[in-house]
Formats: sequence, structure tokens, C-alpha cells
Amino acid sequence: MTQHLLAPITLRDLTVRNRIWVPPMCQYAAAGLDGIATDYHLMHYGSFARGGAGAVILEATGVLPEGRISPQDLGLWDGAQREALRPVVDLLHSFGAAAGIQLAHAGRKASTEPEWGTAHPGASLTAADGGWETVGPSAIAYDALTAPTALDEAGIDEVVAAFAASAVRAVDAGFDLLEVHAAHGYLLHEFLSPLSNHRTDSYGGDLAGRARLLLRVVDAVRAAIPEGMPLLVRISATEWVEGGFDLAQATEVVTWLGEHGVDMVDVSSGGNAAGARIPVGPGYQTPLAAHLRERTEMPVSAVGMLDTPFQAEHVLATGQADVVRVGRAFLRAPNWGIDAALSLRGDNEIIPPPYRRAFRQQL
Ligand code: FNR
Repeated sequence: MTQHLLAPITLRDLTVRNRIWVPPMCQYAAAGLDGIATDYHLMHYGSFARGGAGAVILEATGVLPEGRISPQDLGLWDGAQREALRPVVDLLHSFGAAAGIQLAHAGRKASTEPEWGTAHPGASLTAADGGWETVGPSAIAYDALTAPTALDEAGIDEVVAAFAASAVRAVDAGFDLLEVHAAHGYLLHEFLSPLSNHRTDSYGGDLAGRARLLLRVVDAVRAAIPEGMPLLVRISATEWVEGGFDLAQATEVVTWLGEHGVDMVDVSSGGNAAGARIPVGPGYQTPLAAHLRERTEMPVSAVGMLDTPFQAEHVLATGQADVVRVGRAFLRAPNWGIDAALSLRGDNEIIPPPYRRAFRQQL
């Protein structure tokens, strides 16, 4: 049997050992509210690398303090944060995985209480509880969150510069690939969407205007990182609501991303319209990835309830995506990659040598 899942993939100068990638998942576990990674992050991310992931993409990491979802988010706006991430990168490398990081600005969904251990999970933080003023394309609130202030031209320039500066720190810390977060209703997605972007300047209006900030960020990051380093973007390919950002618009944006030097798009959905009815189920976002892969030249990764090795293998074998990302299933079973290698009967190097003897008859 051909094992697509276990086949390496090359993007620019980076070859990743397989197509089982762990997507970014916020842990809200930074030390001292300063965006600093800790032993928790070493253990958490290291376990996925040891468990066979080809690439591990670290969680949404704020490029600016006000771009964090919560005060407990990781950040990469200073050198101390960069140094705290270096051992995480080294650990991933020591287990053979590529290290990625998702650079993020939460826009109008910033300054919220973490989803656990707080009085009002996910609600806007008050100033007394350490909250801050949020920004967005327009002064339109997301659901019951506090309304943001519309970014002015100088604020937009600052966001672009912050993404580029964080990218430089990520390169310095040793990351192999970078991902720009333009999904799930955070700042760059908010600009893309006609629901949240009512601007009348050159950053609003038609799709080209709404995509302008994302393309500026991509250009700035691309220019700041080595030519051989892959740059990824995560998008919400549809908002699942009438009149929102949809697959037709996403197809155009992905084409532009390719022209601006993006190497792969991760295809997620939703997050910018509170009332959206999302048809959640096994592989529910994969058709979006397949559509974009077919209509554009862009390599894509598929994500969303691709929980079993055979299901993930099928997505790749049928040409719906180039890479599969496995999130919550890796939280449940951090040796998901080893299990996949055994299930697919792939005598693969991701099975640690001390385990090989135990599994010999299954290989
Ligand atoms: C997420 N997700 C997410 N997405 C993202 O782009 N940046 C992030 O930081 C996070 N944070 C996050 C935390 C946790 C605890 C979960 C469960 C999810 C979404 C995630 O990357 C993925 O797209 C979804 O979980 C769907 O994939 P699975 O879990 O069904 O494989």
C-alpha cells in the first residue's frame, strides 16, 4: 500500500518528513502574562514531535501585546519571548519534526478571558482585569465582545511592521516555517470579510481592498525571512453565512497569495460570524481545501476532524490536499503519528528505535 501520509514533502528549501502536521492550538499557558513559553510548552509540543508529527505549528502567537486573544497567549514581540521559544524549536528538531509558528493578531477578538479558570470564559476582559482597547477594520463588535477602534493608516503600518519583526525573531529562534493567521475572525480575516470591514479607504470596499492588508503583511514577512523558508497562510475559506467571505472570494485571495510568494494555504473556516451554522462533522472542511487546490496552483493542507490515519490517508490519496493537519486527535493521543505508521503498515522512521522491537510483527 502506498502511504501518502508518510511521504516527505518539500516546500522551498525545507523537506518535512511526512504529511502529518499538528495545527496551531492556543494553550493560554504563557508565564507571567508576558507571552513567555515554559516547560509546559516544551512537553506539550515535544510530545507531538516524538509521536511522529512531520511538522508542529505552534499556537497563535501575538505579534503585538494588543494582538493577543488573552493575557495568557504566547507573544513574539520581544527578545525574551524569542529566547523562551528557542528550546521548544530545538526539542522539535531533536525528534525529527519541523517547527512552525503561527503569527497572529486577534483584532476585535482580542482582550478576552481564557476559556477556562475564569469567571466569564471568552468574554471581553474589563480594564480592571487587565483588558485593553481592541482594534479592527471598523468599529463593529464581534457578537457580545467590546467594539474595537477602527485602525488608522499609522495603526495599519504598525501591524504590518510587527508581523515582519516577529517573523525575524522566529527565524532567529530557529523555526523552519512560518504561518500568518488570517482565519477564525482575527484581524487579517476581519479585513477580508465584508461583515466586519466597512471601511471606505483603500483597505476596504471590493475584495482587492479588503485583501490589501493581508497581502501587505505577506509581502513584509516574505521580505524579512530567508528565500528558502516556506511561508504559509491560514484562511477561513468560508464564513458559512450569506453575504460573508466565501469560497469564491477565497479562491481569488489564494491565487493572489501564490503571486505574493506564499507556499501553502491551510484551509479552515468560520470564526467571524457568531450565528453561523457550521456543518461540523468528520472531514467537514476538506471539500473547501480540495476546491482551492483544484482551482489554484496552491498546495493546501486540510484540517478539521480528520481523526483517523485511514481517513487522513484517503484525503491525500484522492488528491484533496497535500498535507493533513490533526489537532484534537493529537491532544488525545500524542503518539498519533506512530499509530498512523503502524496502521498503514509503513516501516517508518518516526517509530522510535526502542519501540521498533515491540511492534516488529505489525510492521
Ligand atoms: C484551536 N484552533 C486554533 N486555530 C488556529 O488557527 N490558531 C490557534 O491558536 C488555535 N487554537 C486552538 C486551540 C484548541 C484547544 C483547539 C482545539 C483548536 C483550531 C485548530 O487549529 C484546528 O483547526 C481545529 O481544532 C480543527 O482540527 P481538529 O482538532 O478537528 O483536528
